[in-house]
Amino acid sequence: MFHGRGGCTPSWRHLVVDWYPPLLHIISYADPGEPVIRELLSQIPGHVEAVLLQRRDLADTPMTLLRGELPQEIFAVEDGLRYALFFDRDRNVGFFPDMRVGRRLVRERAAERRILNLFAYTCGFSVAAIAGGASQVVNLDMNRNLLQVGRDNHRLNGHDLRRCSFLSHDLFKSFGKLRRIGPFDLVIIDPPGEQGESFQPHRHWPKLLQRLPELLAPEGEILAAVSSPHLGRRFLANQFETSLPTADLVESYTAGDDFPENDPDKGLHLLWFRNRNRNRNP
Ligand SMILES: C[S@@+](CC[C@H](N)C(=O)[O-])C[C@H]1O[C@@H](n2cnc3c(N)ncnc32)[C@H](O)[C@@H]1O
Repeated sequence: MFHGRGGCTPSWRHLVVDWYPPLLHIISYADPGEPVIRELLSQIPGHVEAVLLQRRDLADTPMTLLRGELPQEIFAVEDGLRYALFFDRDRNVGFFPDMRVGRRLVRERAAERRILNLFAYTCGFSVAAIAGGASQVVNLDMNRNLLQVGRDNHRLNGHDLRRCSFLSHDLFKSFGKLRRIGPFDLVIIDPPGEQGESFQPHRHWPKLLQRLPELLAPEGEILAAVSSPHLGRRFLANQFETSLPTADLVESYTAGDDFPENDPDKGLHLLWFRNRNRNRNP
């Protein structure tokens, strides 16, 4: 509902509001202060049953229920697909609303394709891909619990789990295995901005892109995403130019009008590439 992080309303750049009926999820990256909370609550219509405030500026990003009760099960619903949400485990809730454009692209282009979903998290891309008729999706994430949520997300949508697999591995120790189960018609790459030793963008993007031809089918395609306050579209495009020059940029996308950005290089960027190299590396 509101994407203050984009900086288009500078005095509210610390605030994000997501609507998962019947729950309103307010995320604040600074202390909003009591008067603002009171004012916000007075403006939120009565049919909003529950209001949850998450303080992303504090350690452990605590959540406070400002109104109502937390429903036992909460789902994000997008294009007729359901995704389970959790508000008790992590700073993220299991679903990234701004990635809608990416899930739609994948769904539109998935039919009959073998897809590798790297950094799969709760398998949002995989759910969209199976809904779009993908023949197979391999999901890889080093966090086993998140992949379990991903399995549940497929069940929630009545999907045939035989068309999906779930590998809980560190990507950078798994290229041999992926190469054996490849090649893939489409590889989705949506890593974290930065995550300890597991993902450091300046070190790991080149590593990954240099190994990618081993995993791609002839004319294989790549959907790559960047979404970080520190890295932008330019960073991602440069990574491909330097480390995978055989990939041609086909199209690029942002998160769209619901997620306005003050700096056009920042926010979510999705780049779609086709790899010219017809031969997999020996
Ligand atoms: C930004 S989330 C991905 C979001 C997801 N693509 C989506 O659309 O919902 C990043 C994920 O990368 C995973 N991850 C980070 N480093 C990794 C690594 N070296 N190998 C495998 N997974 C990794 C994390 O566990 C996390 O689930």
